[in-house]
Amino acid sequence: MKLFLDTASVQEIRQMWEVGILDGVTTNPSLVAKEGRPFETVLREICAVGIPSVSAEVVATDVPGMLAEGRRLSKLHPSIYVKTPMTTAGLEATKTLRKEGIRVNMTLVFSANQALLAAKVGASYVSPFIGRLDDQSQDGMELVRDIREIYRQYGFKTEILVASVRHPVHVLEAAKLGADIATMPMAVMEKLVQHPLTDLGLARFLKDWQKVPQESSAPPAR
Ligand code: G3P
Repeated sequence: MKLFLDTASVQEIRQMWEVGILDGVTTNPSLVAKEGRPFETVLREICAVGIPSVSAEVVATDVPGMLAEGRRLSKLHPSIYVKTPMTTAGLEATKTLRKEGIRVNMTLVFSANQALLAAKVGASYVSPFIGRLDDQSQDGMELVRDIREIYRQYGFKTEILVASVRHPVHVLEAAKLGADIATMPMAVMEKLVQHPLTDLGLARFLKDWQKVPQESSAPPAR
């Protein structure tokens, strides 16, 4: 499963890229607004890190506007995936952008039927928002399960990108269901690494190591 960071913070992206567990980045208008810098400047910096997949969202809501923004964004860097919203206009724009060879991530997906439509227009990624469904007392993972089943049934190539991930159990469940990608905030990715027994175990090994007689640093006698 590919792991993406859901952030527009170049600092966070660089940090996880160095560790070697990062496969991509998703941004959205809310995340970009937090950075307080122009969108395209931020995108160029993220792409310059070397990230192979960077999702950048259009803000137009009509087809011509989405096409113009999508084409412009896709020219910024070969790593860019254009994010379009799950609306009728978004579907139409996605179909055209895909015909032009531009990769598209359809976002704001909250039902399996919406995911079916995203696959039919050839979206590269479909982004079900798991946490926001959980917030509404609806099981977000059930949606991922349904999408996986439908895509398997018809052999759709659209990758399932689980979004609105709020905690490590979302990542675990998404992986068990065979989701292709999970995108998460930095705090969740850090929690994937951590376990209190790892910390305790390491502390004990280091303490016991103090009792091991050390080799003499003097060179061996001839
Ligand atoms: O990038 C889209 C999605 O991951 C947003 O998550 O936490 O705002 O529901 P959240």
